[in-house]
Amino acid sequence: MGVAFQRSFLIFLVLSVLLQSWSVYADDTNHLLLVQALYRHGDRSPVSTFPNDPVSESVWPQGLGQLTQKGMQQHYKLGQYLRQRYIEGQPYKFLSEAYKKNEIMINSTDYDRTLMSAYSNLAGFYPPKGDQIWKTELKWQPIPVHTKPLDMDHVLYMDNYCPTYMKHYAEALNSDVVKKHEAENAEFYSFLEEKSGFPKVSIENTWMIYDTLFCESQHNHALPDWAAQQWKNSSLTVMQKMAANDGLQFDIKYDHPVQRRLKGGSLLKAVIDNMQMKVTSTLTPATMKAFIYSAHDSTVSAFLSAMQVFNKRLPPYTACVLVELHAVNDIPHVKVLYGNSTAGEPYVLSIPGCAELCPLPKFIELTKESIPDDWVEECGLGSGFPKLSKMHIIIIASISAVVLVTIIATIVGVIYRRKLNSNFTPYFGLNTNT
Ligand SMILES: *[C@@H]1O[C@H](CO)[C@@H](O)[C@H](O)[C@H]1NC(C)=O
Ligand SMILES: *[C@@H]1O[C@H](CO)[C@@H](O)[C@H](O)[C@H]1NC(C)=O
Ligand SMILES: *[C@@H]1O[C@H](CO)[C@@H](O)[C@H](O)[C@H]1NC(C)=O
Repeated sequence: MGVAFQRSFLIFLVLSVLLQSWSVYADDTNHLLLVQALYRHGDRSPVSTFPNDPVSESVWPQGLGQLTQKGMQQHYKLGQYLRQRYIEGQPYKFLSEAYKKNEIMINSTDYDRTLMSAYSNLAGFYPPKGDQIWKTELKWQPIPVHTKPLDMDHVLYMDNYCPTYMKHYAEALNSDVVKKHEAENAEFYSFLEEKSGFPKVSIENTWMIYDTLFCESQHNHALPDWAAQQWKNSSLTVMQKMAANDGLQFDIKYDHPVQRRLKGGSLLKAVIDNMQMKVTSTLTPATMKAFIYSAHDSTVSAFLSAMQVFNKRLPPYTACVLVELHAVNDIPHVKVLYGNSTAGEPYVLSIPGCAELCPLPKFIELTKESIPDDWVEECGLGSGFPKLSKMHIIIIASISAVVLVTIIATIVGVIYRRKLNSNFTPYFGLNTNT
């Protein structure tokens, strides 16, 4: 046993300790802190129709705008994908195996189809395990989905009244880009007018033809020949050309600076707030790991537009935006993914000016123009937003009720006392003079 051995043993010891701590550190260099997902509902019946529509509304068992069984299956699949990605370790073991209310919160717009999509999604995400099984033959457990009335929701529901926005949208419709588009497509629009029976077809209502035919084609109603055919000598069919119009319409609606702020900006604000609260351990409860938002194609385009990563293409059914917060060497980074096809893994998007893994402070800095300071005020609503006026009504009604009850109580009290004074059986006082 020479000094040489002792020395090399010491070096070995130091090295192995170093290696060990390094490997622990290496495991830790990139881990998930928070996940937020926004998805569009699944397959639905058309929300509207057009005068010459060959398919009658009555073919839809639940009427217009409703999630179909196909839509339920699509969302069940997306739920299974999320389970794989965030529970089963492909690639993350992040959320608990079983549903935990202190880990995940699900919000939806107040539409049948988005609520039902969220429930279908959760059936795939969290089939009950172990002691969560409450009925042996049923691989489903109730999980809450939160919602609020549409007129109080400008975070997930994009069609709320906002005068400033309306003004800018009207301007966008009058812009050179749209004028040029309309001039170039004049022949296409008059063709659509002739075929659909709409007196006027423009970039604003093309979707009513496209969406209706698309929904019908998903349910074994063949497309009319005029829609399936190639448009003139272009490379697109009439359907594809209408779809492109739809994408352009979303772009005009949501992807201008003011539009970003007043439409997708509110959800982006909520998403950023959650990430900041996660980092500062101020989320309530602090154990929260996932926020899920069930909404519409409009919400998805507006949200992507607010981050300036919208691809001008109609978000398909179950299109899903994932905003992941990763700790990379202990520094929080944002990763945005967009799943717009069931055929493959979601695309990783990088917001302009940042890498795919974007440091949170930089992400906030780069998106700050899209974040409204005060949505109600910026919309020019003053106190006119229904949320506020409803609040006022409740306050006024409550005060009136208190005043009324006080008056009645006083009158009853006075009468009762008079009766007590003239009667020796106080307990039955009110009944004795019959
Ligand atoms: C989600 O629902 C919860 C509970 O109702 C609510 O506190 C929260 O503000 C909602 N989030 C969004 C983005 O609507
Ligand atoms: C389509 O046809 C028109 C008229 O025949 C012609 O002017 C135009 O260049 C053609 N476009 C393409 C893409 O071939
Ligand atoms: C899906 O999104 C990616 C990224 O924006 C885009 O490149 C691709 O064309 C989209 N695919 C479809 C089918 O919309």
